[in-house]
Amino acid sequence: MPDLPLASTRIAIVGAGLIGRAWAISFARAGATVQMWDQSPGTAAAAMEFIAGILPELEGNGLLADPPQAVLARCSVAPTLAEALKGAVHVQESTPEVLHTKIGVFRELDELAEPDAVIASSTSALLPSRFTEALKGRARCLVVHPINPPYLIPAAEVVPAPWTSDEAMQRTIRLLVAAGHAPLVMKKELDGFIMNRLQGALLEEAFRLVADGYASIEDVDIGLRDGLALRWSFMGPFETIDLNAPGGIRDYAERYQSIYSNIFPQMQRRVDWAGEVMDRIEPARRALLPSAKMKERHVWRDKRLMALAAHKRQMQQKD
Ligand SMILES: NC(=O)c1ccc[n+]([C@@H]2O[C@H](COP(=O)([O-])OP(=O)(O)OC[C@H]3O[C@@H](n4cnc5c(N)ncnc54)[C@H](O)[C@@H]3O)[C@@H](O)[C@H]2O)c1
Repeated sequence: MPDLPLASTRIAIVGAGLIGRAWAISFARAGATVQMWDQSPGTAAAAMEFIAGILPELEGNGLLADPPQAVLARCSVAPTLAEALKGAVHVQESTPEVLHTKIGVFRELDELAEPDAVIASSTSALLPSRFTEALKGRARCLVVHPINPPYLIPAAEVVPAPWTSDEAMQRTIRLLVAAGHAPLVMKKELDGFIMNRLQGALLEEAFRLVADGYASIEDVDIGLRDGLALRWSFMGPFETIDLNAPGGIRDYAERYQSIYSNIFPQMQRRVDWAGEVMDRIEPARRALLPSAKMKERHVWRDKRLMALAAHKRQMQQKD
């Protein structure tokens, strides 16, 4: 068996829905023993079925270091929450995005988890201070927010509450890196973390361009798909502009800032995404992709994503 970075690590996944089961793949692939627990009977077993179905595809794309059966054997469903937490050094909470659920689940996890375990939430948007403040072990609690699916998209936001210890942050970062992830580490919590703030800025402008009659949705999509996103799939915006002016990033700012400062005042008006503009956007999308073809397109997207993840992994090994 290959020497896997998390070979002697035990991880608990609490909530085995879409994200919990995807995290299980990510950690087990790196060698960890993963124990899942879900309060809804049957969900964790369905998660095992999902994992068993995905692993051969990952292997086919060169995204597994050892055979699918070996990775699957490292995943299991625990009969109780306490069993799932036994021996786990990291707990990845992935229950629904509802504040009172997170508060209740974290209370239970803080009571039952091993004393030295880090407890991380996959929450998309809840600040960690909102569901960990009252806990005795609040210094070990934080957010690790993935992009779906984490076994294909390495970025994961690590967000501390004001009381999260540096040790919990550093251990989480080391664990994520060992699992092949790319942690983005926040110095303090902020609504939307980093990625949703960036995505939100882009979406807001996309809606405004369509709402104000400057472009069709397809033209906006082309601008990203066949334009900006080609570079952004392997460089961030800062590296992009550093390479886009002969003298580097300062030269870029001095040459081109005026283009942007001229347009920012035009970018203040909020557009209601679900309002009048949606009456134009939705029919346009359904003309391009009829509802009946949606499932097929999801499969297409996942295959493309897998091929891109495989390509990026190969390129990183050569860099
Ligand atoms: N779906 C995404 O794209 C995405 C991306 C990043 C982060 N997240 C976040 O991940 C978390 C989970 O989202 P999801 O999409 O997997 O939801 P989901 O509904 O697919 O899964 C949630 C699971 O939690 C289980 N559950 C509910 N209460 C529980 C409890 N008390 N103890 C144990 N299990 C419990 C449910 O039975 C369900 O199986 C949310 O906080 C969400 O915001 C989701």
